Amino acid sequence: MSLSVVILAAGQGKRMVSDLPKVLQPLAGRPLLAHVVDTARQLRPDAIHVVHGHGGERVREALPDAGIQWVLQAEQLGTGHAVRQAMPAIPDEHIVLVLYGDVPLVRAATLASLVDRAGASSLALLTAVLPDPAGYGRVIRDTTGRVARIVEHKDANHKELAIAEVNTGLLAAPASRLRRWLSALGRDNAQGEYYLPDCIVAAVRDGVAVEAVVASSATEVLGVNDKLQLAEVEAALRRERATELMRAGVTIVDPARVDIRGEVQCGRDVTLDINVILEGKVRLGDGVRIGPNCLLRDCEVGARTVINANCVLEASAMGADCVIGPFARMRPGNRLADGVHIGNFVEVKNSVIGAGSKANHLSYVGDTDVGAKVNVGAGTVTCNYDGAKKHRTTIEDGAFIGSGTMLVAPVTVGADAVIGAGSTITKPAPAGKLTLERARQQTVDNWKRPSKKPG
Ligand code: UD1
Ligand code: CA
Repeated sequence: MSLSVVILAAGQGKRMVSDLPKVLQPLAGRPLLAHVVDTARQLRPDAIHVVHGHGGERVREALPDAGIQWVLQAEQLGTGHAVRQAMPAIPDEHIVLVLYGDVPLVRAATLASLVDRAGASSLALLTAVLPDPAGYGRVIRDTTGRVARIVEHKDANHKELAIAEVNTGLLAAPASRLRRWLSALGRDNAQGEYYLPDCIVAAVRDGVAVEAVVASSATEVLGVNDKLQLAEVEAALRRERATELMRAGVTIVDPARVDIRGEVQCGRDVTLDINVILEGKVRLGDGVRIGPNCLLRDCEVGARTVINANCVLEASAMGADCVIGPFARMRPGNRLADGVHIGNFVEVKNSVIGAGSKANHLSYVGDTDVGAKVNVGAGTVTCNYDGAKKHRTTIEDGAFIGSGTMLVAPVTVGADAVIGAGSTITKPAPAGKLTLERARQQTVDNWKRPSKKPG
């Protein structure tokens, strides 16, 4: 059967106390809504409609990718009203799956089973049994155990508030019937809103079977309404992703202190120490070890490479058997061959570094092509920027750059050349020779050190 997904994302989220619309609040570094859209896509629906309103422009800009039908809900009159805005674009014979932009951890498999249970004369509703149901709508079942209606927390009486089974908000229903139920909704309730869950009563009245699918885990259906719940959901996702990696053989020193915010692929015997953050696409080869407090974004790390503590590495590829850090910074665009050492307080940007080369201390290597077996001494700076344009530096195989050297680009240091410490190199340094640029050292014999007058 054809499937249309409707994601509700128009609410302001007052309880967030934030200028950022609720569905753009970040979870694992991405907007809540992006997680929901990704999960919806896994079902390969015919269309995804996102109902937006509050912070409209910003919400659309945050998800620029094609394939979303944006539906505007100019005034937020409730979840039922929100779904109604999407209905004109949905054909009668479709199944409509309603998702909430603020319920981000729901699994595709759960949604697939909801869709499976919905049909021309059945509605499937995702419920959950929560240890603390406060705030959620409660599921009211009749004496035979069938779902009869949902009562919102604010509308519930004492007895109803004691019910632990809650409405997750997610449901799947036939479009033709849903259209009718939605247009008949009233707003005579505590919040004066058109409640989507009131469609359940209409369904029961129409003789449509209401199938309750009880979520297998409570975390999957957690709604995010405030910063506390946002942190809970972040922790649940952190735990889940760390668990996946540990099952795949990764050693994680403390799963509560590792953040996997992207797609991570690991080889065998990878170790992650505490406070490691992996963002974007990260690939770690066999035996890679990452020390404490490291951020890797879009990086590829070769086998047995060690990243020591406190490194920030972005959009870079490292070969095998490299040693990086502690305190190394790689800005985007680096390719390191095997056995490269990048030490403390070294910044590398948009550079290619050959096998076995080392820059171990306090250097800036930017827009540079470094050959193999090069030694870059402490305090070397590639002066790549003239205030208007960037220029490249070339350091050929086996060169030795003495400490404190300024390499003013564009400039080339030939193979096996040696640059004397403290030089400012502006012209090509020929291969195999010592080049230095240094004022002659002098000693002034009759110089007297100034002294303060006593008293
Ligand atoms: C809703 C359900 C409640 C359920 C809970 C689960 C209703 C009336 N209540 O309550 O039964 O237990 O979710 O998390 O449906 N939205 C719009 N337009 C609107 C109003 C809301 O797009 O006019 C969107 C919000 O952006 C949000 C979602 O719908 O993504 C849910 O709205 P929210 O106000 O958070 O509903 P809850 O009070 O959590
Ligand atoms: Ca909510």
